[in-house]
Amino acid sequence: MKSPKRICCIGAGYVGGPTMAMIAAKCPDIRVDVVDINEARVAAWNTDELPVYEPGLLEVVKEARGRNLFFSTKTDEAIVDADIIFVSVGTPTKTYGMGAGRAADLCYIESAARMIARVARGPKIIVEKSTIPVRTAVAMRAILSANSEEGKFQVLSNPEFLAEGTAVEDLENPDRILIGGERTPEGDAAVETLVSVYNRWIPRENILTTNLWSSELSKLVANAFLAQRISSINSISALCEATEADVDEVARAIGADSRIGPKFLKASVGFGGSCFQKDILNLTYLCEHFGLPEVAAYWDQVIKMNDWQKSRFSANIVQTLFNTVRDKRIAVWGFAFKKDTNDTRESAAIYVCRDLLLEGAQIALYDPRVPVQLIHQELQYAGVSQDIIDQQLTICASCEEAADGAHAVAILTEWDEFRDVDFEQMYASMFKPAFVFDGRDLVDHSQLREIGFEVYAIGKG
Ligand code: UDX
Ligand code: ADP
Repeated sequence: MKSPKRICCIGAGYVGGPTMAMIAAKCPDIRVDVVDINEARVAAWNTDELPVYEPGLLEVVKEARGRNLFFSTKTDEAIVDADIIFVSVGTPTKTYGMGAGRAADLCYIESAARMIARVARGPKIIVEKSTIPVRTAVAMRAILSANSEEGKFQVLSNPEFLAEGTAVEDLENPDRILIGGERTPEGDAAVETLVSVYNRWIPRENILTTNLWSSELSKLVANAFLAQRISSINSISALCEATEADVDEVARAIGADSRIGPKFLKASVGFGGSCFQKDILNLTYLCEHFGLPEVAAYWDQVIKMNDWQKSRFSANIVQTLFNTVRDKRIAVWGFAFKKDTNDTRESAAIYVCRDLLLEGAQIALYDPRVPVQLIHQELQYAGVSQDIIDQQLTICASCEEAADGAHAVAILTEWDEFRDVDFEQMYASMFKPAFVFDGRDLVDHSQLREIGFEVYAIGKG
């Protein structure tokens, strides 16, 4: 097996950037070129203001950048010399045509494959890093071989399981690496080449190899199972509120059963992120395509429960505030889909804010990481007009500023700093009764009640 000298990654996003930075840091003898068509993004990767906020990422990038890690827009040059080409372009849910709202849009994957076919000389290993529907490798292979005269390609699937906010930790010490390849001598050789890269820092027994289709499918299934656990506990949170059970106590009790396990049982205002919803939609679309409507309906329910959890939260705010939030200031703490990331994709906050804005509320929003333009963009995409945004949304510089003069505070992201607020002072600055709606079970509810707040928390009777 020839050891790879050069790796190229097409797509410098949330997945491609951090993953390649880790490979470059761990393999100083391999040159890693990360290329993207988005010039602004590439420029940001070359500064200390990385386009992706991840604790510890800057240190990893700095270790390798300029030594064997390069970010650029020179796609063709990077492809020509690479032994391994990772394809890490986005695969958003389709917004048009067949499968709109459910199927993955593979246009970026296809354009990357065509680009590789046009430019590549000599044998290459192409690695699907983006999350894609099962059997995408067939399409990749067809495009590659039909458009290249001399290129010999092996397509591998190597899904990424990193979670945002803990990307560096997940890349450094993953539960497992999954590599799927064609079960032929050439396919096996390609798999072993990629194994040799990860094996520099990950024990061989943690690197699983499977056939291509199992690998592609496992990514969707892993995310579907994780999301299902959250929807399951969220469904129980509603029952807890009705029965005076406490959802955290229930989660602890069931999680202590080693067959169930304690992780991903934290009830919340609803899961967000770029993967869970997209991957389940994709899974249900695939099931229907393969004539399995019952399986599709089963997984679809995970999303329906999540949507209900978000709308239940905003409806509760409106009802509790005496059935009207019109012209009332509501402080919203957090817009990112979880803490320690500036990513807002599918964040529950988008939908809660949209509902409240459409009810006429004045929203005073604070998030420590998310830029204002992104907040505007997400709300517009969710159907809020620019007029409403201009007239009813204020972006604040701190939690306290947002709460000042508010009728209620809604906690939508679990940022640590939200715990450190001087709640006595905050209470004094708010309208009475002063309400706190804790969508993350983040703050000390009994302390707040002692101060005088009316507290509503997910899953607390
Ligand atoms: C997820 C998968 O975890 C990761 O393996 C995959 O590669 C990409 O998708 P990510 O979306 O970054 O990662 O974040 P994750 O930590 O899984 O959280 C997703 C959402 O679920 C967040 O909104 C989070 O707040 C929510 N969540 C998570 C809960 O509401 N409760 C939990 O117990 C866990
Ligand atoms: P992910 O979360 O999967 O990493 P992102 O949307 O964050 O997804 O990143 C995908 C990146 O891929 C974007 O920066 C986009 O500009 C880039 N991209 C898409 N198509 C191409 C292409 N044909 N060539 C180079 N880069 C591409």
